[in-house]
Amino acid sequence: MCGIVGYVGEKNAQDFLVSGLKRLEYRGYDSAGVVTFGDKGVTLVKAKGKIGDLEAKLAGLKRGDKVGIGHTRWATHGEPSEVNAHPHHVGNIYLVHNGIIENYKELKNALSGYEFKSETDSEVLAALIDSFYQGGKYPLANAVVQALKLIQGTYGIAVMSELNPSEIVVARAGSPLVIGVGHGETLIASDASALLGHTKQAIYLNDGEIATVTKNSVEIKTLNAEPVSAKVEEIETNLAAIQKDGYEHFLLKEIMEQPRSLEETLRGRVDLEEGMVRLGGPGLSETELRKIKHLVIVGCGTAYNAGLLASYYIEQFTPEVTVEVVIASEYRYRQAYIPKDSVALIVSQSGETADTLACLREIKKQGVRTVGIVNAIGSTIAREVDGGTYVHVGPEISVASTKAFTSQVVAMVMFGLTIAQAKGVRSGVLKPYIKEIAKLPGEIKKVLDECRELVKGVAEKYKDYDHAVYLGRDTAYPAAMEGALKLKEISYIDANAYAFGELKHGPLALIDDRFFELALLPEGELYEKAVSNVQEVLARGGHVITVTNKTEFDLPVESVVKITTSVEALVPILLNLVAQLFAYYVAVEKGLDVDQPRNLAKSVTVE
Ligand code: F6R
Repeated sequence: MCGIVGYVGEKNAQDFLVSGLKRLEYRGYDSAGVVTFGDKGVTLVKAKGKIGDLEAKLAGLKRGDKVGIGHTRWATHGEPSEVNAHPHHVGNIYLVHNGIIENYKELKNALSGYEFKSETDSEVLAALIDSFYQGGKYPLANAVVQALKLIQGTYGIAVMSELNPSEIVVARAGSPLVIGVGHGETLIASDASALLGHTKQAIYLNDGEIATVTKNSVEIKTLNAEPVSAKVEEIETNLAAIQKDGYEHFLLKEIMEQPRSLEETLRGRVDLEEGMVRLGGPGLSETELRKIKHLVIVGCGTAYNAGLLASYYIEQFTPEVTVEVVIASEYRYRQAYIPKDSVALIVSQSGETADTLACLREIKKQGVRTVGIVNAIGSTIAREVDGGTYVHVGPEISVASTKAFTSQVVAMVMFGLTIAQAKGVRSGVLKPYIKEIAKLPGEIKKVLDECRELVKGVAEKYKDYDHAVYLGRDTAYPAAMEGALKLKEISYIDANAYAFGELKHGPLALIDDRFFELALLPEGELYEKAVSNVQEVLARGGHVITVTNKTEFDLPVESVVKITTSVEALVPILLNLVAQLFAYYVAVEKGLDVDQPRNLAKSVTVE
């Protein structure tokens, strides 16, 4: 979603602002802008479209200004346009804002003497700050605090005034902000990746904190004016991790790097000799683990699908534990009762998803123990959960989540295994899963290497369809859901997933030449039943693609992708790799922007 950058130091601010915004491009945006202050006054430039459009407008305006802020906007209030783009300029104030000001209409009505140019809530916040600033009568930070005390909603903001051009004021509530501490320079970003190559020292601002930064100082307070002693942390990511590494798209890179990213998830956590998994992060004692009777798994989109798939496995080996998987945007408003002895797994790649974060806070209020399954280190969810397991897949740049899904599933299965171990479930039951987990990185590599070209060829045949139905049963059903999500978000083909058993209850009516069907058919107990379901689709003229690990597969389907693997229970994770590659190649064939699909953002920090 929207991105913020800021710079104050000795170098050309525009260089950092533009390169920083480029780093944040992956989050999704539709307009961008920067403002810098210098000897020649204020330079405020905004553009609809991509950073390239902004750069074109900035060409020739390089003035060597040494302080400035910039923004990429993902439209919420008002269409993508130059006037709605940030920074917003009102009176003496320049402001960039991530988040949503819910009471902006009331505030707007109450503000007299201001003419608003844009349709945004952010411009109202700029005006409110200006009204308290009173032409520099009060310190900028004080004016920002006064304004923020009247705000309902979420924000990460960076504010400047030309009357005090050597400082930037930043504040956050629900939208991340990181302050990079350099030598004689201070940098600001909504995502630490923008800081890489400039500094590795960062201060992560907490909700309710406001900081005044100059090139040599960072002063942090709470909104109630209590001083906060800043904790400087090392940014763990490196530059190589956010580059394409020779691949045409980040998405393909991230699909292909899954053997390695999963190895990182497993590192030090699987003990094959003892037949045990060990997860330190959740911070639950053996006694606490033994007591667990119920798991609530919370996530959005892919994280939800990962939770659903993991829940099927967890139920297989922890018979006394019930598992409920919920969509965060729904759950946060339900009057859900969470029984005693529950643990909530909060699943999020970015660790910043607004709905997931809201659920975490609601669940904590009920006194339920929360465990994060998070990728982004130091993210808000990672910091607010009681304990957690990082999946450690490194930065996921492509909007469509792939490597995070695989590792989220495995991390949650491992969490289930730790509960089962503590409850004394026989090792004979658990060891087969542990063995499969240990060999999964190698099996993933084999499948990706063997199938990539084959899947590309299959994808070419289906790029012109408007609709797709993904099918699976048991553990292959959540995998089908994830496959359908990937296809729809990057290829814009309307794709929905159904459990095979549900076909006759409605979806079978869809089958005609406008649709193709992608069936995930893992070998196993329910294989023959799923085959019968495929036959029902074929009998109605379906255009079926099957993805299977069954060696003797002879149904007269249109296309088959066979994988060879010695993995059994976890096969749906491997079948999903094929669905990832399929979605990727369909989108490439259609000439679409696979890494930044239209209308979507990487980290959904607004509701
Ligand atoms: C789909 C996708 C989204 C995210 C969802 C949750 O490919 O990326 O559905 O999974 O927005 O995001 P996180 O995991 O960051 O909470």
